[in-house]
Amino acid sequence: MAEKRNIFLVGPMGAGKSTIGRHLAQQLHMEFFDSDTVIEERTGADISWVFDVEGEDGFRVREEKVINDLTQEQGIVLATGGGSVKSKENRNRLSARGIVVYLETTIEKQLARTQRDKKRPLLQTPEEPRDVLEALAEERNPLYEEVADYVVRTDDQSAKVVANQIIKML
Ligand code: S3P
Repeated sequence: MAEKRNIFLVGPMGAGKSTIGRHLAQQLHMEFFDSDTVIEERTGADISWVFDVEGEDGFRVREEKVINDLTQEQGIVLATGGGSVKSKENRNRLSARGIVVYLETTIEKQLARTQRDKKRPLLQTPEEPRDVLEALAEERNPLYEEVADYVVRTDDQSAKVVANQIIKML
């Protein structure tokens, strides 16, 4: 792998972006960022608050700013929010400024990994989480594929194993 290229992880909620990203960063001695965490640090409030008060549109404005800033770093691993690829600007920045890895998984795994989790406002609606995740997948999977340099499945393996698999590919 070229020295200190950025690694950007994209994929849906519950794909394992943050956990795998932390392993990757540790193994490669790179700095790790999670766009949601950076939004929370900058806002001083959690993601649910941002959605409640500013709506999804307000959240996306914050997300775009954070992705613009972080993609200008060198040698970082960035776990992006699952909806960040909706923005063409984000997709362009991610493709131009690093290696993009799409973490692909099944709806079943997403459901299992996001269960009991109150942090994801898009799943805190009267709608069935499965229906929400399926609709999002239909809209976004082509966008993850479009932006990805590599696609890695995360269903059956531990985060550490997936991270090692990514390192071998780079
Ligand atoms: C979202 C995914 C979340 C977070 C926000 C919106 C989405 O991030 O950015 O709740 O639109 O899919 P994760 O993919 O890290 O869960």
